[in-house]
Formats: sequence, C-alpha cells, structure tokens
Amino acid sequence: MSAQIIDGKAFAAKVRGQVAEHVTRLKEQHGITPGLAVVLVGEDPASQVYVRSKGKMTAEVGMKSVEHKLEVETAEADLLALIDQLNKDESIHGILVQLPLPKHLNEDLVINSISPAKDVDGFHISNVGLLGTGQKSMVPCTPLGCLMMLREHHGSLSGLNAVVIGRSNIVGKPMAQLLLGDSCTVTIAHSRTKDLPEVVGRADIVVAAVGRPEMVPGEWIKKGATVIDVGINRIERDGKNKLVGDVDFASCSEVAGAITPVPGGVGPMTIACLLANTVTACSRANGLPEPEGLTA
Ligand code: GUN
Repeated sequence: MSAQIIDGKAFAAKVRGQVAEHVTRLKEQHGITPGLAVVLVGEDPASQVYVRSKGKMTAEVGMKSVEHKLEVETAEADLLALIDQLNKDESIHGILVQLPLPKHLNEDLVINSISPAKDVDGFHISNVGLLGTGQKSMVPCTPLGCLMMLREHHGSLSGLNAVVIGRSNIVGKPMAQLLLGDSCTVTIAHSRTKDLPEVVGRADIVVAAVGRPEMVPGEWIKKGATVIDVGINRIERDGKNKLVGDVDFASCSEVAGAITPVPGGVGPMTIACLLANTVTACSRANGLPEPEGLTA
C-alpha cells in the first residue's frame, strides 16, 4: 500500500474537542447551553443506532440532548406540530429529523417545516439555496466532514479536478457545491455517466457516494489522487458480515496518494459535523462569533 490513510476517527475526535471547547465558552461566558433535538419516527434498526450514538456524543460535548421517539403510525400533523414546538423552543438550537421517514409522511414537507436557522442537517430548501449561491448557510454534515478532511490534507483545493460520484441531495449535490466554493473544477458523475473510468481517471479528488459496495477499482484512479469514500455498505464475505465502502480499498490504496478507510473515515466525521453545526447554529442565534474552522 502506498496511500496515506486519512484517519477520520482521529480527526472527528479533534473536531468534537473543538466543539466541546466552544460549548464551554458559551456556557461560562454567556450562560448559554446549545441544545440539539433529534426526532425519530418508527423503529428502523439502523436509524435507532444512529440516534442513540448522536444523543451520546451530544451529551459528551456538554450540549443539551433531547430525543423524541414517535410511533411509526404518527400522523403528519402531529409531527409538524412537534417541529413547530421545537422551532419555538429557545433552548433548542438544532433540530434533526432522522431519515428515512415512514412512507405515509412527506419528507420534503417535514424537512421544510424546520426553521432554516435550526436545520443542522442543511436539508431545508433555504439552506440548499444559500449554499448554492455561496451565502452563509447550514451545510449538510457528511459533505462538510469530507471538505474538512480534504482541506486538512491539501491545504488549498484551488484548481484541483474533483469528481463526485453520486448526485444525492444529502451528499453528492452539496459536496459538489462545497468543492466549487473552494475553487475546484467539479464534475458530478452518476449512473448514466458515459465512460466513468475515464472521468474518474482525470480526478485529483474523488468523492464516492453511490451506495454500491466496492464499485470503484484502483485502475480508475489517477496516481496520487485523494479518494474520499462516503459509502457504508454491509456485505457478507467468507461467511462474515463486513462493512465496505463504495471504493475497492485494497486496489485503490495502491494508487491513491491518500484515502479514507471504511469504517473509520467519513462516518465518524458526520456526527462530529452535526455537533459542529449545532454549536454554529447556537452561536448565530445569539449573535455571537461562530466557532473557527468548524464551518464551510
Ligand atoms: N439518515 C441517514 N443519514 C442521515 C442524515 O445525515 N440526516 C438525517 N436526518 N437522517 C439521516
């Protein structure tokens, strides 16, 4: 292996430390405790694991953590009423509604009912528009975590060729906007892209966010490129359950200059950035300076 491993686990711990410092400052100097409310509808096992982990880490950095667990049959009006109540609650600075929602609930309607200033996921249409026009916004956590790792590794990203594989609203599209904001030349590739190996082969930075296990082989990667693997795929291999990314780590790490592992790469950064967004939202809500290095 020649690639440098980008240690997302260690970097996320550092980010959480910075968040905790800012939280202490808000408490001691201003008497303010940042608060994050997480809403979970139904009993999806993966979502339950995420929500538990978010609650634990929120408390660990000294913030107020509130969880609302609603029945899978919850009526849309009741969910909207809860969000309205959280929007008005001055002790809550961040609201996250765990996705996916049960099918009878309109995800767009629910997300767009969250106050944009408290939308720590950055999914509200106002935040999407603000990011797309280069204005101050709440930035989706996973792409923000990827950007932080890229900035840490490269310093400046200006002029680099970046290829984002995947066009989701949660990762692909906001990732492309952030890279453009840092003056990369950005290509968004997807399932209909012609000659994907050739497109990926031009990239100095590859961000893979497609949700297909080990889809990107090392032969596609330009020598020395930085590979950010957003995929978290559970597969069975040799009779064992295994977590793999969207890139084939074994072959890609032979050619890449740097690469994020799965697990231990992008994953831990996502929750760290959720905490960062909450402390940013709290600072903005109180007209105080934002934490340095924790925003886009
Ligand atoms: N489900 C999976 N990832 C996410 C996320 O980043 N935010 C929310 N709200 N739900 C998710």
